[in-house]
Amino acid sequence: MPINLTVNGRPHALDIDPEMPLLWAIRDVLEMTGTKYGCGIAQCGACTVLVEGTAIRSCVTPVSAVDGREVTTIEGLHPENRHALQQAWIEEQVPQCGYCQSGQILAAAALLTAIPKPTDEDIDTAMVGNLCRCGTYPRIRAAIKRAAGTGV
Ligand code: FES
Ligand code: FES
Repeated sequence: MPINLTVNGRPHALDIDPEMPLLWAIRDVLEMTGTKYGCGIAQCGACTVLVEGTAIRSCVTPVSAVDGREVTTIEGLHPENRHALQQAWIEEQVPQCGYCQSGQILAAAALLTAIPKPTDEDIDTAMVGNLCRCGTYPRIRAAIKRAAGTGV
């Protein structure tokens, strides 16, 4: 039986091992490389994607767990890459090396869906699991506030 995934609005029937991590299905099978591999053990957040609006760690999620569901990666957050967060990220010049940033933006997207005007505490709580070895945390916070309209 194929695994049925809708990724960024496109349906796919994948003949793959149901235990394959979603991250590998996205990167190796569907060849979308915006989602990154950092640790592989749910500790860094680099592999964060959205499943129906909720942020999940795709490195530890078997594709069978999302069979029949809708997945959003960084490539599909906005059709023209102009989501409010993506624009705020540019305006605040958030990325340094960039490796963690897809996961950061998707975690932030899930936060703003749940809490459109987050406080600093809300941001810290939502983003604590997304690590950035370049230390871009202050700019991430500023960009989330800019996107939420609660700070410039
Ligand atoms: S690669 Fe998934 S949390 Fe680090
Ligand atoms: S920008 Fe380099 S790890 Fe975050």
